Amino acid sequence: MVQYTDELKEEIRSANDIVDVISQYVSLKRSGRNFFGLCPFHKEKSPSFSVSADRQYFHCFGCHKGGDVFTFVSEIEKVSFKEALELLAERAKIPLPVSENAEFNKTQYLKDKMYKVNAETTLFYHERLYKPLAKIAQDYVKQRKLDNNTLKAFKIGYSGEYNELYKYLKSKGFKDEEILSTGLVNKNDRGEYIDRFRKRLMFPIMDVSGRVIAFGGRKLDNNEKVAKYINSNENLVYSKKKNLFALNLAKQSDSKNIILVEGYMDAISLYQRGFNNVVASLGTALTEEQGRLLRRYCEQVILSYDSDGAGQEAIMRGLTILEDQGCDARVLQMDGAKDPDEYVIKYGSGRFKLLVENAISLVEFKIKMLKNKYNLENSNDKIRFLKEITKILSSVENKIEREIYIDKIAEQYNISKEAIYAEVNKATYNPKTAEKALIKPVVKKEKEVEISPAIIKRENMIIYLLINNFRESYENIVTNIFADDFKLESNKLLFETILNSEVEESDKILQLISNIEDPEIQSHVSEILVTDYEINSVNKCIEDLVNTYNKERLTNRKMEIIQLLENSSSLSKENISELEKELNDIIIELAKRK
Ligand code: UTP
Ligand code: MN
Repeated sequence: MVQYTDELKEEIRSANDIVDVISQYVSLKRSGRNFFGLCPFHKEKSPSFSVSADRQYFHCFGCHKGGDVFTFVSEIEKVSFKEALELLAERAKIPLPVSENAEFNKTQYLKDKMYKVNAETTLFYHERLYKPLAKIAQDYVKQRKLDNNTLKAFKIGYSGEYNELYKYLKSKGFKDEEILSTGLVNKNDRGEYIDRFRKRLMFPIMDVSGRVIAFGGRKLDNNEKVAKYINSNENLVYSKKKNLFALNLAKQSDSKNIILVEGYMDAISLYQRGFNNVVASLGTALTEEQGRLLRRYCEQVILSYDSDGAGQEAIMRGLTILEDQGCDARVLQMDGAKDPDEYVIKYGSGRFKLLVENAISLVEFKIKMLKNKYNLENSNDKIRFLKEITKILSSVENKIEREIYIDKIAEQYNISKEAIYAEVNKATYNPKTAEKALIKPVVKKEKEVEISPAIIKRENMIIYLLINNFRESYENIVTNIFADDFKLESNKLLFETILNSEVEESDKILQLISNIEDPEIQSHVSEILVTDYEINSVNKCIEDLVNTYNKERLTNRKMEIIQLLENSSSLSKENISELEKELNDIIIELAKRK
């Protein structure tokens, strides 16, 4: 992996003005020192998205996303930080270094060729589908009710006979090694080159950025002896556990969730009927990598497996993997069709949409499975069922969520709500864990976060001054204001970061800060940077700030002394008179400052 230097990063940053870059996505209007627009990261009617041209930062006061130009591109393009950097380098036409390592370069070169082979092949198959010789494939897609837009969106194709693809790729100038590496062509014992996919309906598999990395090919007849699907083997550019079919399309959807199906045909068929948020696992059980990938693009994932295919176990594993990634995972319940494709053709997209809306969570799914084991007409069974669901419900940490489940279950299975509550409370009331189970979820950490807006503003101003007017403000601030004065953790951390660095120039500070990899800090920094504090004189402003802190310290000490004197029984006479003198001085000092 190539690591880019900080210098290069800064070169790329300064070659990409944040206002220009963001203007490609958001319509910005200037107002005072900043630009404003509608936030591209959340739905809003009036603009709370702000960009500072001076500071090259953006911040949304609505959803609190913020950061520099790299953060913006990585968020909006849904790519990693490194990929954002590469995109911006390309935008500014700044060449990126290649590794010194010859082996590494050779692999990079081959990979690049493999992507090109895959792209050419996609085109070859796709165009071939429209030729007269492809009648069997054309009839097949008609029978499967795929329309032309869909064929184009997924670049569906028809593979040739014997070695047609090989000949085509050779005519395009690819070398044997490059072609063989993709697995699209194999060399047999007699040294002949033979296409892997022949006379099949071809589904190109793309990575998140839309590059073709592999293919799935469906047979067109009912011959039981041949596999329904043949897929590319894994290779340098294709790892099936790290990719999801159609994610390149689904990531563009506005939908708050992604529907996960098993088959290529399910994803394609749903897409055609208006569900642009569908992905298919590539013939394997959902992997952790795929779960993580999904989490990057949405918060909720709806598992929509075939009704016969995957067993309960597979569903539970899938849901668990997703929940572990922090997804809100649901499972869709489908009756009357074997898979989503058949369902949506038979009952229409409206009915399928209802299924999506009614998809159930892991807890509900577990309870449903449990119910199948018992006959709830039988009172013994009902008691056992109640005991079992109690176990499941007790594992739900959030009290509010648990209450919602209890209400639902009570209604659905005709069990008294009180009975379930009683059981759950009994189970969760273990003196040791009682607090955790019963109280904690509803008590918010309010006391800690309740810092007055005035204090936050004052602290933010100090950070703002340190960043913007470093030379003028540094000495005065660091001799009068201390890290412990900060109430907001983010400000304290920023203050310490600036102080502990050996930085001497303003722009270097911003670089330093932009390297703190914590979205909360970045959001906070961007908020500070895009806020106009209307500072006319830096010195006057610092003077006021320092005065405020000094006054506050004096006032605090005054209160402390008064308290001590009130309980003076344990104090010596000398102590008391010392304190009285100090109090007197403070009162005079405070009066002077008024
Ligand atoms: P399905 O048999 O459900 O396929 O297998 P499907 O996409 O719904 O296709 P139709 O409707 O029968 O035409 C689900 C997925 O499992 C993988 C494929 O990725 C397929 O989409 N699979 C299935 C294979 O890789 N090989 C096979 O032989 C069968
Ligand atoms: Mn199917």
